[in-house]
Amino acid sequence: MTDPGDSIVLQANGLRVAYAGNTALSIDQIEVRRGEVLGVVGANGAGKSTLVNALAGWSRGSPRVSGQVMLDGVDLSTMPAHDRARAGLLLVPEGKLVFGEMTVDENLSSLVGMSQDADRRFYDRAAVFELFPRLSERRNHLGSQLSGGERQMLGIGRALMLGPRALMLDEPSIGLAPRLVSTVLQTMRTLASTGLAVLLVEQNVRAAIDVVDRLVLLERGRVVAQGPSDAMRNDPRIAQAYLGASST
Ligand SMILES: Nc1ncnc2c1ncn2[C@@H]1O[C@H](COP(=O)(O)OP(=O)(O)O)[C@@H](O)[C@H]1O
Ligand SMILES: [Mg+2]
Repeated sequence: MTDPGDSIVLQANGLRVAYAGNTALSIDQIEVRRGEVLGVVGANGAGKSTLVNALAGWSRGSPRVSGQVMLDGVDLSTMPAHDRARAGLLLVPEGKLVFGEMTVDENLSSLVGMSQDADRRFYDRAAVFELFPRLSERRNHLGSQLSGGERQMLGIGRALMLGPRALMLDEPSIGLAPRLVSTVLQTMRTLASTGLAVLLVEQNVRAAIDVVDRLVLLERGRVVAQGPSDAMRNDPRIAQAYLGASST
């Protein structure tokens, strides 16, 4: 759970993103604390991917991005994506960044020895297999032969090997069987309990609300509601639109 005070790992201030002059995202402040899972939810086109891409420094379709992105007190705002990743801000994107022509083993071998900050945990392959035993069973299979859930696990495993301070996931549950959705989302709780800051983008609010500490609801690129997940469960904007509740 969260503790108050200065345990903020990832923070963005005055974040604005525009595509061809049209504002797609405008957020005054968003933060993720150590040991916390923050859920960011919203309908298709609400700006969820735009948010995590802007935080990670990825420019899909040349957006104009302004605002400040801080990671453990370091200003990343002017850094390109690879430097932000090196600093420990990692995004598992939609599509998961897995090499289809490489085996699971090879996907997890190409990453060794990037940086060695003592206050970060760089998973090794054995630790990834411990987290996701399924991957170890599939270690000699090609990335392209994996199921959606296995690819998702591999994408998360690769990010963990890069020593995240903050881990962001863009719709990890998409296309997964219901049983795997809860496996993958529960893994976010496990990772947060080790002190990681996790930002989880999900359209599957019903599944996400059980694992996140706090929820932020985006509509048309703006935060329209946020709060602890227990309180948000009863927020009419969440309950009616995403949980299918007509009354309580
Ligand atoms: N490369 C792009 N060029 C122009 N508009 C884009 C681009 N990517 C996203 N948008 C627009 O920005 C808004 C937010 O999109 P996105 O962040 O992908 O939403 P979500 O991930 O919540 O479904 C949408 O209106 C979308 O059409
Ligand atoms: Mg998206």
